[in-house]
Amino acid sequence: SQKITNQLQPHAFQKITNQLQPHASTFKVAILGAAGGIGQPLALLIKMSPLVSALHLYDIANVKGVAADLSHCNTPSQVLDFTGPQELANCLKGVDVVVIPAGVPRKPGMTRDDLFNINANIVKTLVQAVADNCPDAFIHIISNPVNSTVPIAAEVLKQKGVYNPKKLFGVTTLDVVRANTFVAQKKNLKLIDVDVPVVGGHAGITILPLLSKTRPSTTFNDKEVEELTVRIQNAGTEVVEAKAGAGSATLSMAYAAARFVESSLRALDGDGDVYECTFIQSDLTELPFFASRVKLGKEGVEAVLSVDFQGLTEYEEKALEALKPELKASIEKGVAFVQKHP
Ligand code: NAI
Repeated sequence: SQKITNQLQPHAFQKITNQLQPHASTFKVAILGAAGGIGQPLALLIKMSPLVSALHLYDIANVKGVAADLSHCNTPSQVLDFTGPQELANCLKGVDVVVIPAGVPRKPGMTRDDLFNINANIVKTLVQAVADNCPDAFIHIISNPVNSTVPIAAEVLKQKGVYNPKKLFGVTTLDVVRANTFVAQKKNLKLIDVDVPVVGGHAGITILPLLSKTRPSTTFNDKEVEELTVRIQNAGTEVVEAKAGAGSATLSMAYAAARFVESSLRALDGDGDVYECTFIQSDLTELPFFASRVKLGKEGVEAVLSVDFQGLTEYEEKALEALKPELKASIEKGVAFVQKHP
């Protein structure tokens, strides 16, 4: 299963004759924030999927051109554009997976939490529309701070009476993608084989790579554990600083989000062997939301893989305890936001 899930599969390319091959069952995917830095490359990657019949692109501006451009690719899915709140309902009707990268990205010196007020409102409004128009869809939240925006989405869905915790996901795939890449580099492993579960949340020290659970089984000395953990936790900031004011990770994020979409579609399609780390409502710890590896199925989260939590190292146990207060506060901040601004 690791070979299937630890990389976005270029299967579409392998089968190329003159077109990507259509697939028996196909799904509709909507991207909200589709004209943005993440939205555009994400739309391109999803346009390549043989599992997609329709790609609905929504933004408050500039989405017409993105859709016109993408629609010329001769892959099976039909691309439709939707601009502004008055077109949002039509964008969402009949959709199987909704991906939300709408919002503002970080600039140097900002934490993910600095984005809270702007993105909290955006996510609240968009998820209200999801609740009204496609309450049964898988919802993938990318907008930061994910540690708060996922609880915000959950509260909105509860208010609307349509909350299904098995279908609301915070996208933390980029943390896994980074962990796999950095570990493979450091240990000189073949990238396609490497899989590192990353648990906790999606900001700073709440990002906890479980290096002791790396597959294939790999040993790290204390210095390597410390260096790799800190690099994985701060990898987003590496990109924010390199972009020097022009935004945060977009291309690697689009790649990671496309992998999570593809995994969700394979699960919806009945593949019984789909595993991803994601930030969900969880009873793995005492915190109400927690990222961990889950098995995905047609109804969303089918099982939480608690096996990753057996036999943690002392370093991991300590880091797990250390992240809990921050993650708890971020979750509570999200819940409080919706209660204050219903
Ligand atoms: P961007 O500014 O390039 O794009 C955001 C897009 O959202 C823009 O096209 C904008 O018009 C649109 N938008 C704003 N308000 C909207 C609304 N009410 N409805 C629909 N669309 C709206 O930003 P970028 O770089 O694409 O980042 C987007 C978000 O993703 C940020 O919050 C960023 O922090 C987050 N992010 C999350 C990561 C993760 O691992 N989960 C990694 C990297 C970024």
